[in-house]
Amino acid sequence: MAVATARAHGYAAVTEAIVGRLRKIVGERGVFVDEEKLDTYSHDETNAEEYGHMPEVVVLPTTAEQVSAVVKLANETNVPITPRGAGSGLSGGSIPIFGGILLSVEKMNKVIEFDMDNMVIVVEAGMVTNDLATMVQEKGLFFAGYPMSLQTCYIGGNIAENAGGGKAVKYGVTGRYIHGLEVVTPTGEIVWLGGKLAKDVSGYDLKRLLIGSEGTLGIVTKAIVKLIGYPTATSDLLVLFKTPREAIDVVPTIMTRGIVPTSIEFMDQLSVRTSCAYLNESLPYEQAGAMLLIEVDGTSAEQVEQNLIAIGELCEEHGAIEVYVAEDHNTIERIWNVRRNIAEAFKVHSPIQSLEDIVVPMAIIPEVIPHLERLSTTYGMKIPCYGHAGDGNLHATLVKDPEMDMDTWHTNEDLCLRELYRVTRELGGKISGEHGIGIKRKSYLNDVIDPVEMKLMQGIKRAWDPHNIMNPGKIFDLAEMK
Ligand code: LAC
Ligand code: ZN
Repeated sequence: MAVATARAHGYAAVTEAIVGRLRKIVGERGVFVDEEKLDTYSHDETNAEEYGHMPEVVVLPTTAEQVSAVVKLANETNVPITPRGAGSGLSGGSIPIFGGILLSVEKMNKVIEFDMDNMVIVVEAGMVTNDLATMVQEKGLFFAGYPMSLQTCYIGGNIAENAGGGKAVKYGVTGRYIHGLEVVTPTGEIVWLGGKLAKDVSGYDLKRLLIGSEGTLGIVTKAIVKLIGYPTATSDLLVLFKTPREAIDVVPTIMTRGIVPTSIEFMDQLSVRTSCAYLNESLPYEQAGAMLLIEVDGTSAEQVEQNLIAIGELCEEHGAIEVYVAEDHNTIERIWNVRRNIAEAFKVHSPIQSLEDIVVPMAIIPEVIPHLERLSTTYGMKIPCYGHAGDGNLHATLVKDPEMDMDTWHTNEDLCLRELYRVTRELGGKISGEHGIGIKRKSYLNDVIDPVEMKLMQGIKRAWDPHNIMNPGKIFDLAEMK
């Protein structure tokens, strides 16, 4: 199957001779061809049956030089190559849809340098994000990236997707903390972009272009990660509302009062219940139609408390039915654990679904909820919703009703997504805030993007990857395939 697809697109097969050369580059133990092992690398966290695809060979390099040699071999032999982090992606970015070589950075997980004088850490791309965060925390420093998959995802994958997550309201997304990157280009050259620099306009900002390019413009091998002081005081509010509309309505009010919370996470009732059931956990949620999880952090406990009280009062003035303060670490972690596990819980409970990632200007977010309610009725599916409300970023999730047959589901899912994306665009939004286009949203991008922008993006891809071998078929199809 993989081979047929790749051939149909003009790529060559991975031959015994190519496998032999890969073994020479990375060593015997860094190359797999047996099906059972390949299967692990055939999918990410999107629905495996719909989007999965087997690679022909998996390679696990340990150095940038090895990555470079593998990429040069791919160019020479006309074999597609797909980079992969931990496989926790949600848009199919690391799935080898044309077969070929799957290159995993999992063995590249070392700290290269801890430079306290410049407040940066230099790490390899395969480092688990939580390990990075924990390591620097021991020195009183903070890496502010907080993707919901932080316990498994890699910093390289976060960079490839420009991951957002739970602390972006105050701290911004991954790219803000990436000051330099070592990259293997699609033609196999090794290059450092950026550096230990707070600013840099020495030509185009290629480092920024790499960040969020979904593995289509090169393979990140090392990153210079900016660290900041650890916020020693943290406190969280769990605010209950009768309805999703009431919860979301208060978000722009909170955001425009001069206090910058760390997080404003939204969860509707079904999202909370599904995650709690999955975790065998219970939160004070029964009567609530929706809730906001609001975090404030800083270095002064008094300041944090004052801010939290002000936000709590604002919520009460705007229809909250209850405001719980969670101050101790264990309670905060329990609530966040429920929040972090919603996507996984839905995957287990309702495997046939579409996890969305729309983003709109923050002040517009109240207008999204009535549209979701309308779409849910029109297309006969539940659309539970949760997400990073303070960023205007919502994970509406289209869930198949068990009664609905598969043909109707596919038709309705497509119609519903088109309508959701159209509305999002009209509200000044975009179809992905942090998960990426990958293959999951590729067929919709044309409808919602300016054709000039699309042409510029494709031009960049052609210039960087003249043989179209670096993660081809992601974000868009190049008009002339191989
Ligand atoms: C989350 C993932 C799905 O926010 O982005 O839980
Ligand atoms: Zn998210």
